[in-house]
Amino acid sequence: MHLAHLRLRDFRNYARLDVDFAPGFHLLLGDNAQGKTNILEAIYLMATLRSFRGVGGAQMIRHGAKGYFVGGHVVGPAEQEIKMYWSARERKLALGGQPVKKLADYLGALHTVVFCTEDLQLVKGTARARRRFLDLLLAQTRPGYLPLLQRYMHAVRARNALLKQRAVDEAALESFSAELVKLGSDLIRARRELVPKFSPLARLAYRRIANDAEDLRIEYQPSVKHDFAVELAQSRARERSFRATLVGPHRDELQLLQDGKSAAQFGSEGQKRTLAIALKMAQAEFLAGRHGSPPVLLIDDVMGELDVKRRSGFLPLLESARRASGQVFMTCTEENWPRELGGDLHRWEVRAGALHRSEAGG
Ligand SMILES: Nc1ncnc2c1ncn2[C@@H]1O[C@H](COP(=O)(O)OP(=O)(O)O)[C@@H](O)[C@H]1O
Ligand SMILES: [Mg+2]
Repeated sequence: MHLAHLRLRDFRNYARLDVDFAPGFHLLLGDNAQGKTNILEAIYLMATLRSFRGVGGAQMIRHGAKGYFVGGHVVGPAEQEIKMYWSARERKLALGGQPVKKLADYLGALHTVVFCTEDLQLVKGTARARRRFLDLLLAQTRPGYLPLLQRYMHAVRARNALLKQRAVDEAALESFSAELVKLGSDLIRARRELVPKFSPLARLAYRRIANDAEDLRIEYQPSVKHDFAVELAQSRARERSFRATLVGPHRDELQLLQDGKSAAQFGSEGQKRTLAIALKMAQAEFLAGRHGSPPVLLIDDVMGELDVKRRSGFLPLLESARRASGQVFMTCTEENWPRELGGDLHRWEVRAGALHRSEAGG
């Protein structure tokens, strides 16, 4: 799968951009604050409808403009035209010229995996960051997962709203509890099935890029231990004081263990960073395995943070992307781009919200 064309209008510091990208390795070079990361952000946005910087739509509109447009031509098993427009008053999303009605139908048009400094939150952040990671992986590989998740979260919110009322409507609560248990059990099953398939990939990726011999293990720790309905009923007393639903997959945790110990609690900064990258590498391999073609890799600055040995752990992933006519976009400054990675690559110079093709090679 590759992105053959990218079109931006009033997106971040790009007033207008129209650029063709071949399959292969693209190096985006430029000084700070020129718009390198903004390109990756736009591509990721098309794939996931989110910014990996964790911001909302308004911040991505070019200062002074009313709305942004991001469009792309994706060449994969099928060819797809993506068009999205976002303003405070209007949001439009079209795939192949047709307005998108269901999000689940849209996700899948473009697969990407991003490597960025925010990834550290996967290790250091709250369980929510890890649930999101798991959910994105499932949404991209398991049909029906996203609508299921949306319905479950809707039920949690509705149930929480009931619990916040002065006099709780017990009958209504009962019916939401039943809904919660039914949907939640399917979510738990999907997550329980995924983790043992994903964990070995992460373990391998970690081995490849870590300088230490520690062993990585990923463990799914569901909030529900045995029986959702029973445990939910048992939590009623606590729910009364917290006024929120305390049991269920919205409270699940994904434990990252190094030699059996929590990476978040005991890992060094360097280990945490390596671990975050390993999770992303495993995500890329998992998606490639499921879809038969590698996702578009978006690598933002992280290479510069790694020493040469750790960087070389990336090579198999980049090599397999290349073999499968996939695509990699990597941002760097002129000083720190990892020259050992690039034989045959496309070089772009990014300056003040514009892209200029520059000579291939070093
Ligand atoms: N909404 C926006 N409108 C206009 N410019 C923006 C907007 N958001 C960010 N920028 C500009 O984009 C530039 C940063 O782009 P970025 O892609 O993060 O740079 P880098 O090349 O360092 O990765 C800065 O000059 C910033 O002022
Ligand atoms: Mg940047």
